[in-house]
Amino acid sequence: LATSAHTHENFLQCLILHSGNDSISKVIYTSSNSSYSFVLESSIRNPRFSTPSTPKPLVIVTPLGVSQIQEILSCAQKHGMQVRVRSGGHDYEGLSYVSPVPFVILDMINLRNISVDVENSFAWVQSGATLGELYYEIAEQSKTLGFPAGVCPTIGVGGHFSGGGYGTILRKYGLAADHVIDAHLIDVKGRFLDRKSMGEDLFWAIRGGGGASFGVIVAWKIKLVPVPSTVTVFTVNKNLEQNATKILHRWQHVADKFDKDLYIRVILTGANSSQEGKKTVQAAFNSLYLGGKDKLLPLMQESFPELGLVSEDCKEMSWIQSILYFAGFPSGQSLDVLLNRTLTVISYKAKSDYVKNPIPESGLEGIWQRFYEKEAESAVLILTPYGGKMSEISGSAIPFPHRAGNIYKIQYLVYWSEEGTAATESHVSWIRRLYTYMAPYVSKSPREAYINYRDLDIGTNNEGNTSYRHASIWGTKYFKNNFKRLVHVKTVFDPTNFFRNEQSIPPLSW
Ligand code: FDA
Repeated sequence: LATSAHTHENFLQCLILHSGNDSISKVIYTSSNSSYSFVLESSIRNPRFSTPSTPKPLVIVTPLGVSQIQEILSCAQKHGMQVRVRSGGHDYEGLSYVSPVPFVILDMINLRNISVDVENSFAWVQSGATLGELYYEIAEQSKTLGFPAGVCPTIGVGGHFSGGGYGTILRKYGLAADHVIDAHLIDVKGRFLDRKSMGEDLFWAIRGGGGASFGVIVAWKIKLVPVPSTVTVFTVNKNLEQNATKILHRWQHVADKFDKDLYIRVILTGANSSQEGKKTVQAAFNSLYLGGKDKLLPLMQESFPELGLVSEDCKEMSWIQSILYFAGFPSGQSLDVLLNRTLTVISYKAKSDYVKNPIPESGLEGIWQRFYEKEAESAVLILTPYGGKMSEISGSAIPFPHRAGNIYKIQYLVYWSEEGTAATESHVSWIRRLYTYMAPYVSKSPREAYINYRDLDIGTNNEGNTSYRHASIWGTKYFKNNFKRLVHVKTVFDPTNFFRNEQSIPPLSW
């Protein structure tokens, strides 16, 4: 305790001393400050990491500009304080706001400018902006430009783009990180770097390798993509009595082969059957088509007639309205909801897998059995189709390696509202059992995973030094062979491993 109090005081003094006339004291929060808890909790999405026993930051700083970030990094290095950078706070394992050692949260909330250049189809967006704010700003200025990022509007672009980032137009355009064309980053030496001055190796690493290992990303320059003025959405629900198993089995053979304009994901949940007391599973076929329904209906008739899509299932709208539709807002809602950063929070644990061969019906039936268990009451599996543009981009173009050869990705999620460790343990144990069951049906050697669905179960660094070999256990799952190049970049740019967390890329000397 004495050590942390000491570290904390020295760090604060250093910050105030170095900041001179700039107003850093107004953006420093310690536990003695009445806003501390509010600022800390403002973007915590997973209350599993916000309990009385969760380690709390000694200090939170919400810098107003680049020079303040440089001061934070310099003082943190001088006084042995770990820095956790937080943009949207959506990290699945809370790594942006929890650490076992004395730490400061560098929260990017005040750095969220967005400037859109419609004529040249690009935008600069600061890391603290949310996807909702970005989509809103693009839509304010153009009805025919969009961006291929995630579906939840409160995600921060800082973490999201640095881990890949995908949404409903990934089959047409790939990932958010595939569309980053420049970036501003502050490295461990406090240097403010852009693409030219950081060089292609570091610029490669931060587009999918996770930002937290390499520096503080201040802003991204992104290429916007064309979207038609009319798109079509639908959600068709099928439960087991309505042939869900056979339709889903068929979906696995076509989902990655459809026209690139068509994206049909499947959301699996447990449900009550029409037969009293019996449980069933519901498969929601949830789709975006980049065009009108006049073209979609014949396409579906030809390539996936088993779903039985009819005109009444389809809703035509603008691309930005489809963002609201996928985010779960009712139709007719004003676009202003995209600017709302207020979170609805519930504890969860997630995991991910990649599927390269269709799962046989018998395998799907084993998943249904697990949905009938009591911990699965609020469990969800989301199956995201790949193919299209995702198969055209090389597996080493950026650190995100999961390209050709994947039919779809599975995200497993289990939620619970009960407090206490017993509830946490039983739900986490349920999802781990499901993950074990899935092993024969998913990618192997390595069993691949998506870094933006952070999962500490797949391996973590040692608290002190972490060898390349040890970190490879989790590193190759997220990055396959790209892990080696990430380690190389880390060794060059952060050899003393200042920017670190439980799953940061280790430098070679460690
Ligand atoms: P957060 O601030 O927690 O940061 C995540 C990681 O990045 C941390 O390690 C952090 O230190 C680091 N980091 C953040 N900002 C940084 C910066 N400026 N410089 C350096 N490092 C930085 N994903 C997806 O691809 N598609 C989707 O549709 C969704 N949907 C979705 C819904 C919901 C409800 C959640 C909670 C999450 C998702 N995700 C997702 C996953 C999401 O992309 C992932 O959690 C991102 O890393 C979140 O980025 P944030 O900035 O919000 O997180």
